Amino acid sequence: MCGIVGYIGDRPAAGLLLEGLKRLEYRGYDSSGVALLDDRITCYKRVGRIANLAGIVPHGLTQTVGIAHTRWATHGGVSDANAHPHLSRNKKFAIVHNGIIENYIYLKNMLAKAGFAFSSQTDSEVIAHLLEKNYEESQTHDFEEAFNTTLRMLEGTYGLVAMSADHPDCLMVARKGSPLVLGIGSNEMFVASDVSAFLGHTDSVVYLDDYEIAKVTSSSFQTKDFRNEPTEKAVSKIEWQPDSLDLNGFPHYMLKEIFEQPESIERGFAGRIVETMGTTKLGGLNLTPAELFNIKRVCIIACGTSYHAGLVGAYIIEELARIPTRVEVASEYKSKNPIIEAGTLYFAVSQSGETIDTLLSMREIQRKGGKVLGICNVVGSTIPRESDGGVYVHSGPEIAVASTKAFTSQLIVLTLFAVMMARMKDMSLNTGKRLISDIKKIPECIRNILGHAAHIESIAGKLKDAKYFMFLGRGISYPVALEGALKLKEVSYILSEGIPAGEIKHGPIALIDKTTPVIFIIPKDDQFDKTLSNMQEVRSRGGIIITIHTECPADSADYDKLKSLSDYMICVPAIDPSLTPLLTIIPLQLLSYYIARDRGCDIDKPRNLAKSVTVE
Ligand code: G6P
Repeated sequence: MCGIVGYIGDRPAAGLLLEGLKRLEYRGYDSSGVALLDDRITCYKRVGRIANLAGIVPHGLTQTVGIAHTRWATHGGVSDANAHPHLSRNKKFAIVHNGIIENYIYLKNMLAKAGFAFSSQTDSEVIAHLLEKNYEESQTHDFEEAFNTTLRMLEGTYGLVAMSADHPDCLMVARKGSPLVLGIGSNEMFVASDVSAFLGHTDSVVYLDDYEIAKVTSSSFQTKDFRNEPTEKAVSKIEWQPDSLDLNGFPHYMLKEIFEQPESIERGFAGRIVETMGTTKLGGLNLTPAELFNIKRVCIIACGTSYHAGLVGAYIIEELARIPTRVEVASEYKSKNPIIEAGTLYFAVSQSGETIDTLLSMREIQRKGGKVLGICNVVGSTIPRESDGGVYVHSGPEIAVASTKAFTSQLIVLTLFAVMMARMKDMSLNTGKRLISDIKKIPECIRNILGHAAHIESIAGKLKDAKYFMFLGRGISYPVALEGALKLKEVSYILSEGIPAGEIKHGPIALIDKTTPVIFIIPKDDQFDKTLSNMQEVRSRGGIIITIHTECPADSADYDKLKSLSDYMICVPAIDPSLTPLLTIIPLQLLSYYIARDRGCDIDKPRNLAKSVTVE
């Protein structure tokens, strides 16, 4: 939520900052701004996308220090004035802030009494004025000291970068609850909410921890904690290639990322399969075989699409490994004083590794003595760094706000875990080998589905004007229905619901008439016949039936039944029933994409959403 970029070096800053903002636009995109520093601070801000801001920043600016921000509004509406950076009264301090200042009303009143006028309705503006006040009131006129004093007055969360016209040789940076990373270049330094902002300029990074402050000059950085004690920081290398952020000829990131799934899934299982033993290995779990063997229960905590991946994962873990598994929405979990049980292994599943509700749930479990493993995509993000172990899913950068490839990568990792646990319990070597062989086929199966994208596109064209979509599935296909419905509502703004197919009789069937598309996820598994009965029920009420089914011979009885009940059919390759979600979700992602495109929606940046939700 909100993206921050800072630059100090020997190159003109404006272009680098705008480029960084564009890369971070997925974090929030209702307004943006940039402040540049030489002997004074010049600030440009604009409502709307980064392109609007780029339109008002003059070409040829020579300042080599600056900070920039792309906003997802929390306090104060969407306006030029509420966009960051915020300047102090004397315009000698500028700040960009991600997070929420909880005591801002108190601070605002205090500052107003001291004669400070506010030009925005944001909580963040108080920080700029406090910096000025603390600086002016100190004997030393020391920027760093004023920054530290200001931090001590703030309650809430922040990723914060400040600059001072009187001290153009440094940026002051602080992190408490919102991610910040330093990019170490030669004669230049970047600060950003995540590494994508400066990818291509440097691959050396330092991840700041919560309660850490950094003083950054063009050639050095010093870090310390909130007690003023210096901290030791390791410089890491970024794995992502700069061209992984390009569209590579696709019209939208969402479509590009859907099409990347054969490769991203392959990266998820590469090096983690032990073929001869019909099992898998997940080194990052940091658990001995004996510790794994003693796991009595699994609990998965996540939000949004990651939550749906967790729901599918729970089916797979219970089915294959017979370990009771529950899945919790993080925002609810952390607020209910969770009961942490010995013998339970906790997973925090998150694409970004920064979702605040998931992170706070993880900390609560750890505080109570539980062990939490991360299943995350973004390397170096907060959840993997604070967890007790875990696995990276290696999807590569996911830019579209609606998550697609991260979902299937999370599923593959949860499946690998399930197979590993199952093989430690009572799954036979042969069954393990057969499953592994099917897992290895998944990339090719997805390529096959993607090869039929035009068929899905044509169905989307026929359904795009529907007002309401119902997604139905049973068993392991129920969370797929939930994810299909979430995708459609996120990108096309069409009301859509995922419902267990067996539940429609208890109410939802009342919504069905001849204008209602009802999407059935009906792979050939032990739920097939019961789901067919539900199709019959929908058929009798005139609903438009779209089936996502696994391949069956055209002359088979199953095919005849499906055909007689369907208006549209989408086929995915046949595979082990516990792996079908990895295939049945693909047509649903494509359907959502094409419907949103045909409705003229802003697919990669749907209204009101942000990719990384770092406020509660
Ligand atoms: C936001 C995004 C979703 C994502 C969810 C959880 O709502 O828009 O796409 O599924 O956050 O994010 P995480 O990074 O924790 O997976």
